[in-house]
Amino acid sequence: MRIEDKKVLATLRDLGVELKSAASLTDITYLGIGGTTDLLRLTRHESIPEVVKLLESNGIPFKFLGGGSNLLVADNVLPWVVMQLAQPDPDVVIEGNIATVDAAADLGRTVTMCAKHDLGGMEGLIGVPGTVGGALRMNAGAYGIQIGNYVREVKVYRGGARIIETLKGDQISFEYRHTSFAPDDMMLAVKLELPSKPFREILQGIRICNEKRRASQPLGQKSAGCIFKNPPGASAGRMIDELGLKGFSVGDARVSDRHANFFVNAGKASARDMLALIADVRERVQKAYGFELENEVVVWNA
Ligand code: EPU
Repeated sequence: MRIEDKKVLATLRDLGVELKSAASLTDITYLGIGGTTDLLRLTRHESIPEVVKLLESNGIPFKFLGGGSNLLVADNVLPWVVMQLAQPDPDVVIEGNIATVDAAADLGRTVTMCAKHDLGGMEGLIGVPGTVGGALRMNAGAYGIQIGNYVREVKVYRGGARIIETLKGDQISFEYRHTSFAPDDMMLAVKLELPSKPFREILQGIRICNEKRRASQPLGQKSAGCIFKNPPGASAGRMIDELGLKGFSVGDARVSDRHANFFVNAGKASARDMLALIADVRERVQKAYGFELENEVVVWNA
């Protein structure tokens, strides 16, 4: 979708929005899949309610994008514009055991910054790609750690009420790859309260998790991490593997040879290919094991 109205474009500029017209989401998402649309980079949190009002009053549909690491976007020209937070400098501020982090901050960099200040707890998250905002919304986790465990406060734009609010950690529920945020809420910043730990000890934990990840996941390839959530008491990756589906593909969308719950874009996969592969694998697992696998990847259909 293109914004062409000159008045709207000028107002967006006044609100601190940097517009990249006809941006390709193929270049932004980790899967390397997605059509084109106008990308609005927001440099000021406070202006978000006004930006939303402006778009709504001009009939321009929109979506909020985090880092694009857990996202499958439709092909071709997209029927909505995409908003993304610009990264402020600094994006991580540490005082005592509290790290105040902008939602646009890179998650891995945040873990390392905190480690340098002798703040640990998040070692398992080191290789999880994407932004802190995306990790928060999904309650990202790995190796027994979930980001929700450390959340003290979240600043969020509430899509329903159209206001910016600060929520205490205990006002939010964090479950396995799920939070109580609404789909149209946009994470803006978070205060994490982290346990003190010597830097060397944290580094050791980080190394162990990195090695485990390298040994079991297709790190150099285009993927959105795990495609399906694990059903209670079962492993989606193991079931797909047991069905002999590693390497199974639709076009260039392929079940990874390394970890069967990672579906990779092995060339020029389209969203159509990837969605067909997801549907096919889901059906096979349902038939063989009776589990209806739920997507972990977020899908933006056009
Ligand atoms: N397994 C296989 N074949 C495979 C993949 C896995 O047999 O192709 C077996 C493994 O040998 C192991 C079991 O399945 O016995 C579980 O595998 P793994 O330890 O790799 O963990 P997972 O349940 O597949 C989860 C998270 C990952 C996270 C890892 C490490 C989900 C859906 N996935 O994977 O998170 O990195 O644990 O903690 O919860 C993500 O969220 O995108 C993600 C990659």
